[in-house]
Amino acid sequence: MGIRTLSSFPRENLKGKRVFLRVDYNVPIKDGVIQDDTRIRATLPTLNYLIESEARVIVASHLGRPKGKALPELSLSPVANQLSRLLNREVKFASDSVGEVAKGSAQNLKNGEILLLENLRFHPGEEENDPEFSRDLASIVEIYVNDAFGTMHRAHASVVGVPKLMDVKLAGFLVERELKYLGEVRTNPRKPFYVILGGAKVKDKIPVLNNFKEKADRIFIGGGMAYTFLKAKGNETGNSIIDKDSLEKVVPIIKDMQNKLLLPQDHLVVKEIKAGAEKKLVDGDIPPGWIGVDIGEKTIEMYKKEINSLNEGTIFWNGPMGIFEIADFSRGTREIAKSIADATRRGVTTVTGGGDTVSSLKAFEISQENFSLVSTGGGATLEYLAGLELPGVKALEEV
Ligand code: 3PG
Repeated sequence: MGIRTLSSFPRENLKGKRVFLRVDYNVPIKDGVIQDDTRIRATLPTLNYLIESEARVIVASHLGRPKGKALPELSLSPVANQLSRLLNREVKFASDSVGEVAKGSAQNLKNGEILLLENLRFHPGEEENDPEFSRDLASIVEIYVNDAFGTMHRAHASVVGVPKLMDVKLAGFLVERELKYLGEVRTNPRKPFYVILGGAKVKDKIPVLNNFKEKADRIFIGGGMAYTFLKAKGNETGNSIIDKDSLEKVVPIIKDMQNKLLLPQDHLVVKEIKAGAEKKLVDGDIPPGWIGVDIGEKTIEMYKKEINSLNEGTIFWNGPMGIFEIADFSRGTREIAKSIADATRRGVTTVTGGGDTVSSLKAFEISQENFSLVSTGGGATLEYLAGLELPGVKALEEV
């Protein structure tokens, strides 16, 4: 991998050391209540290891996009409480990530104690990768650990500036695991290799599709993005969501991948996107005035048959097959998720990720244990699988 990992670093050298732990606690919070703590839980192995090694842990993250201003609604303080509950121990909170407050709190930290710094993005220096802001952050620590896979695509101070200043920079357990599985998918997936893409954001998926053009054996398209593909093929799509800017870009993809590309053959359609709306299944074209909200029964069966035929190889899945948030339109996503989970039990390496995909698993009460990897990254995962270099990974490689 070319980077040093926490797991290979001599454990005894952590004792008493102040460790800067960059995490991605960019979690949904409503009225001070955390809606999904998956990203917090994902860092617990690294945190527990550092605590047990008697390090002094200084945890740092961004939350939302406050654009350099201290916005109370984007404070990490609710996260400190949740982290404390999950670790079953006190988590101290510093109301600023730099300056006297942070310095004082870090200095008072004892072996095995944890301090969470306030939202890094309250300072413009974080996103600007300002050397002075990096120096301030680095001045209170001796070891740098990055466990923020979801932020690895951002060349920000805490992701690239701080490690540049540190002699010891390590990938935490979460980043190590993400890079192991995603690295295998990106460079050398066990064959057969199936890619299942859904969701509405076509633009974000095109680079991934182009990167997997040769490597993938089958590419399944569902969800909102399917209608852009069908429209580009000349099908009628009614009032379904279309990404006009991507229409032309998918034409060569359809042409180049025609032998391996699977598009929905039938659709669940409605006139209005709401629970209880009149709905029907249509084959092929979507009539005027109707909106596609899920893949249809034939498509579900066709996709499941392909997935169920795999007893080895790799599946990468990103993006729901329909508007799963409304129970009436969730069947496609649920059935595909269940088939992929079954494939894991047959020995297929199954890698999934993306905010909506992870939320859908939660909604269906399908445990993350059913997959080889549920990536905590959104944009970072897609950029990595598009073959791009992630600045955060590169920063760990530099000596
Ligand atoms: C994410 O949620 O994908 C990461 O935390 C990065 O957030 P950003 O897109 O605001 O940089």
